[in-house]
Amino acid sequence: MILSIESSCDDSSIAITDIETLELVYHKKISQELQHSVYGGVVPELAARLHIEALPKILEECVEYFPKLKAIAVTSAPGLSVTLMEGVTMAKALSLSLDIPLISVNHLKGHIYSLFIEKEEVLPMTILLVSGGHTQIIEANSLNDMNLIASTMDDSFGESFDKVSKMLGLGYPGGPVVQEYALKGDENRFELPVPLRQSPNIEFSYSGLKNAVRMRIEKCVCEDGNIQIQDKYDICASFQKTAVAHIMQKTKKLFKQKAPKNFAIVGGASANIHLRTQIEELCQKNGTALYLSQLKYCSDNAAMIGRVAVEQYKMNDFINVDEIDIQSRLK
Ligand code: KG4
Ligand code: ZN
Repeated sequence: MILSIESSCDDSSIAITDIETLELVYHKKISQELQHSVYGGVVPELAARLHIEALPKILEECVEYFPKLKAIAVTSAPGLSVTLMEGVTMAKALSLSLDIPLISVNHLKGHIYSLFIEKEEVLPMTILLVSGGHTQIIEANSLNDMNLIASTMDDSFGESFDKVSKMLGLGYPGGPVVQEYALKGDENRFELPVPLRQSPNIEFSYSGLKNAVRMRIEKCVCEDGNIQIQDKYDICASFQKTAVAHIMQKTKKLFKQKAPKNFAIVGGASANIHLRTQIEELCQKNGTALYLSQLKYCSDNAAMIGRVAVEQYKMNDFINVDEIDIQSRLK
């Protein structure tokens, strides 16, 4: 079995995965969303402190599995430096004290392998990764052969939901609450600009849309400084429609160039129902097989890190305790 640790942002999570059967023997996640919500975003120092409390608490529940462990895996990049450090420090200590090898896992590959938790991998595949930190299209041939086709020039898809939520005073994370507000709103009330509409390139940008929403919100502020609830619903609906329209325009362009046989959406923001429905329709039209992670594995978790680690274990892809390093960004 492999014990895996995830602490790249605001979720403390540990999983234990059976190397032979891929069974997820143990999995727990303690989310810090509530603690960060009052600040309208993740506060790195607070996140690190909360990992220090949560990770050992979860680890105590795993002690019975220690004799069966063959390796320790941990997310080392990308993510917040101060929080990655907590997971990596724990992983190093476990690797040394249990005298078993260490596996360094790329968080983004983790999101991709969230598709294959307790399942065999299906590759090659074209993947749309939408999270709080990333918006990318990746051509994945195998774990170690992945090409970046497109990415965002500024903000990510999930981040734009977080920022709109913050501007409307709806807390963090923004995705679920903006999606919920959008359900009660009129998506055609406010016309917002679809980013990079004229650009022939497949790339993303969300900062312009965020600013357009900011200006729209300013116009909706009443004399008492508040915004009427129906206005908030309509802003959320109009924003979500435009944010998804941007992704769909670029994805359709990609499908025109080369309709993929297998397509997937992964990452925390892949939980967005509006996006899922439209991608489903596009795939159906093109005869493309669509793969989605289970909703519980869309956001950050250690089960996906453990699933990547199984593949790395089979390839003997280990790292020395004194060589593992964290990287907040990857080239
Ligand atoms: O993958 P994840 O848990 O963390 C990162 O690696 O970034 O993704 C979290 C992001 C947040 O920005 C959150 O607002 C967004 O995913 N998110 C959503 C939805 N649920 C979560 N964005 C849009 N619609 C949702 N339903
Ligand atoms: Zn993530």
